[in-house]
Amino acid sequence: MKEPKSILITGGSSGIGAALALGYAAPGVFLALTGRHRKRLEEVAERCRASGAEVATGIIDVRDPEALAAWSAAQDLRRPLDLVIANAGISAGTGTFGETDRQSRHIFAVNVDGVMNTVLAAVALMRPRRRGQIAIMSSLAAFRGFPGAPAYCASKAAVRVWGEALRGMLGRDGLEVTVICPGYVKTRMTARNDFPMPFLMETDRAAGIIMRGLAANKARIVFPRRLYSLVWLLALLPPAWTDPLLARLPEKPASPDSQAGA
Ligand SMILES: NC(=O)c1ccc[n+]([C@@H]2O[C@H](COP(=O)([O-])OP(=O)(O)OC[C@H]3O[C@@H](n4cnc5c(N)ncnc54)[C@H](OP(=O)(O)O)[C@@H]3O)[C@@H](O)[C@H]2O)c1
Repeated sequence: MKEPKSILITGGSSGIGAALALGYAAPGVFLALTGRHRKRLEEVAERCRASGAEVATGIIDVRDPEALAAWSAAQDLRRPLDLVIANAGISAGTGTFGETDRQSRHIFAVNVDGVMNTVLAAVALMRPRRRGQIAIMSSLAAFRGFPGAPAYCASKAAVRVWGEALRGMLGRDGLEVTVICPGYVKTRMTARNDFPMPFLMETDRAAGIIMRGLAANKARIVFPRRLYSLVWLLALLPPAWTDPLLARLPEKPASPDSQAGA
């Protein structure tokens, strides 16, 4: 089992990213955490420092490839990165208004371009030394398109498949790539969902599963298993059977943010 000592996490200011940062925080560990919300990011950083970790923070939008690459390189100079987790992501409500053009494009920009920006910057740093691990945050929503979240499902499917292929390609250069597919986790992202979320999990528990999976260099970390089985079944069955069922599922409520494309 590997114990990474230098870790970069995008979206470290909240939810799963923050729980991972806190999970890895320990004496001798360097954490490079990014987010956009300064106060939340600094609060997480302080808690990690209290656990003995050395922490650098960067207020960086993952949609900005140059800023992300420059910041990642600066952190790598400080302590060569063992693990980069491309975690930052967004979802948005589709209830009432459906999915606006702006909203769909924004979700792709953060969840696909943002992940690519993070991963490509990491590959550029790790490939020459033929060592390092990259984790890509996908979702159980990556296995079937759900009418309540078209862009979100598609963006997560794109990074899942990209990550699976990268694992084979970059494995030849000594790099490890893992795709993470969680079900519902209790974070700011799911807080607005006003429908029952089966097997909803606490962030700490989700972070523990992810950390163990990464230590074992799993190709795919997927949980909870019962929801995974259900999603697999939905993906296998003919759409003519499943579409009527999926059309009846509740949708995430629209928010002023989602309509503004934030
Ligand atoms: N919660 C779930 O049920 C669930 C399930 C499957 C997959 N996931 C995935 O897990 C990841 C983390 O989500 P979460 O549930 O922990 O939600 P969250 O609490 O809302 O955290 C999202 C993180 O992404 C960051 N972020 C968003 N847009 C960004 C941007 N443009 N540039 C930089 N950082 C940005 C946020 O930073 P700021 O707040 O500082 O902007 C925040 O740290 C996402 O990729 C999500 O799709 C979540």
